[in-house]
Order: sequence, then C-alpha cells, then structure tokens
Amino acid sequence: MLRLNLLEETRSEKSVVNVYSNQETASKSVAKRIATLIQKKQSIGKKTVLGLATGATPIYVYLELIRLHKEEGLSFKDVVTFNLDEYYPMQPDAKQSYVSFMNTNLFDHIDIDRENIHIPNGTLNENEVAEFCLAYERKITSYGGLDLQILGIGRTGHIGFNEPGSAPNSSTRLVMLSDITRRDALRDFGDKKDVPTKAITMGVGTIFKAKQIILMAWNKKKASIIKKAVEGELSSEVPATFLQLSENVEFVLDEDAASELTHLMVLKKSK
Ligand code: PGA
Repeated sequence: MLRLNLLEETRSEKSVVNVYSNQETASKSVAKRIATLIQKKQSIGKKTVLGLATGATPIYVYLELIRLHKEEGLSFKDVVTFNLDEYYPMQPDAKQSYVSFMNTNLFDHIDIDRENIHIPNGTLNENEVAEFCLAYERKITSYGGLDLQILGIGRTGHIGFNEPGSAPNSSTRLVMLSDITRRDALRDFGDKKDVPTKAITMGVGTIFKAKQIILMAWNKKKASIIKKAVEGELSSEVPATFLQLSENVEFVLDEDAASELTHLMVLKKSK
C-alpha cells in the first residue's frame, strides 16, 4: 500500500489518499477499520453509528463484514446505521430499492437489530418529505452523530445523491438526479423511463459532520472524477471537492482509480 498524506503546497491537495493494488485488499482494510471501531465502542458499552452507501463500490466491504461476523464473531448488535440515500419514489420491496440492496448485501447476513437500520423513505407523499428529512437529521444527531461514513463517488462527482449544484452546508432533502446518474442507474432499471428522477439524500453538510469519512473508488472509469475530487478547485459543480475541507476524510482507491492523480504519478515516476 502506498500511503500519501498530501499536506503541503495548496489547500486542494491536503487530503489523505491511500492507494491499494486492488479493490479486494482495499475493501478488506476498510472493513477491518469498521470492525475495530465497532469492537472498541462495544468494549466501552457504546453504540457505533455508521453511515452506509449503496452501489457497486462498497460490495466487497460488506462481504468482508459478513465474513467477519460469520467466521470471527463480529457482532452488529450495538450498531446503528443510516443510509445515505434512496430513490424517490421507491417501494422498499422493489428490487432496485436501496432497502433491498442493503438487505441482500449486508443486513440479511448479520445480527443487526432491524430497529437500528435507517434508510430514507421512498414511499412518502411529497408534502411529507421535508418533515421526514428534518427527522432523519435529528435522529442522526440524537445518536451523537455518525462515527464513520463510507462513500462511493458518482461520475458527476456526487456523494450520496448530492449532484452538481449541491451546497456545502446542504442537509437531508429531496433532489433531482442528473442525467448521467440516471444513465448509470440503467444497469439496475433496464429502461431509462423506469429510473426515478428524484431521490432523498443526506446533504453534503450531513456527510461532512461525520467523525470519519472514507470515500472509496475503483476502476479507471472513476479516475478522472477522483482527480477532480482530490486535486480540483472546490466547487459545487463537483460536490465531492468539499471533502477537501474536512480533516477527517480519507480517499481509499485502487491503482486504476488513482491513476490520474498528479502527485501519485510524480511519485511513481521518481521511484
Ligand atoms: P457505484 O456508484 O458505487 O455504483 O460506482 C457510486 C455512486 O454513484 O455514488
């Protein structure tokens, strides 16, 4: 693993970036950190509050957490989770819902208490959404805030469903999905007309308040947006750039996703 702390020079290059040879190794390391955090808090009788993500990116992290539960006795009894987002409208039992995703990829295989799981509700009437979003924020706060938020990144630079234009202090709310994001969702929905146009998402501000944030990205297809997110100017056009302002963020990448980072290239070339 190549560990870089890009602290010097300019503000936009200060983030911690960890590059692993592949997604599996990187994901195991993230899962290990989550497990250690849970066990540490368990040992002092505290709950762990996790912010969770969906999509292809965190799949191996969840697989490893399931393995740690089944083979090494990691318990999720004291874990509270808040998912980043959900399509709107969306029925929880639809196969594309993030409720289904989380059940299939994690919750059905661990000992988490169902009452401790929180996922934005895609079934509300539009006039109920604002109140729901406020309550979601309050609920996170009532547990003492998110201990650790894991994130993927969309090709638009979105985190959660905070698309270009999202404000740094945005909170949980109903948003319109960008065309690129809806096209990327075709792999789950098949037909564009079936991809929801909206979603409920935690805000950039909600994510930012997490005590630790880990943004993961794999594959060449994420390389150019990772370059913008890590090295680019802060801009609401690439909401992930706001993470550069956090002292608590770490980018966990495979070599392909890191392949356009200028500093890494300079470093590799000079070896
Ligand atoms: P992915 O999506 O993990 O499926 O690449 C990431 C995102 O859109 O945030």
